[in-house]
Amino acid sequence: MKRSEINKLLVEASEFFSSFHFQLPPFAFWSPERWQSMGPEADEIRDNELGWDVTDYGLDRFYEVGLLLFTIRNGNHARKDTYPKGYAEKIMMVRDQQVTPYHYHWNKREDIINRGGGNLVLELYLTDERNKFSDTHFSVSVDGVRRPVAPGDRLILSPGESICLEPYVYHTFYGEKGGGSVMVGEVSDVNDDRADNCFYEELGRFPEIVEDEEPRYHLCTEYPPAAAPKS
Ligand SMILES: [Fe+2]
Repeated sequence: MKRSEINKLLVEASEFFSSFHFQLPPFAFWSPERWQSMGPEADEIRDNELGWDVTDYGLDRFYEVGLLLFTIRNGNHARKDTYPKGYAEKIMMVRDQQVTPYHYHWNKREDIINRGGGNLVLELYLTDERNKFSDTHFSVSVDGVRRPVAPGDRLILSPGESICLEPYVYHTFYGEKGGGSVMVGEVSDVNDDRADNCFYEELGRFPEIVEDEEPRYHLCTEYPPAAAPKS
């Protein structure tokens, strides 16, 4: 993805969230210059990769297959002593028919919440022991109400509705055609993108970036190391 495109998407997303009166924390808008002067007091943001995350899953067709997220809070399995927090929260902008590809998590249990905009469509399977789609029927909890699911069933969340996705449940989601973008929340166990995503097809998780202009905001993987304390 081009940096100019990412810059534009971040501005669009913050305006989109604001339009629902969902305000991001201040570090969402810290400039790269500001980051240069931030010391170890901001380690939690760096170490847990909080903040902006834009992905085209390495396919370079962002509007068809892609996702824009902002991680608001997260723990860190590898550094539990420093970061014992056991939960995570994200906000996402999912566009009309923009697909997040099929994946499941071995560990993370996540609630996916339609917080406003269009309808969110999910399609679900259980995984089998070869990481393929199982033909087993199962059930999910939608806002505290169990619902039976046949393999590949499509489930639609309208604004306000949420689903609890248990580990080993394959899920894909996208904004329902014609409904516009969806503001999607995620409340979950600790999120570990490097070790807890099993995609059905092998995909990249982070984009290749072409630097055609200066970054407006850093992505969560781009923060510079902590500045030395001023003496
Ligand atoms: Fe997921």
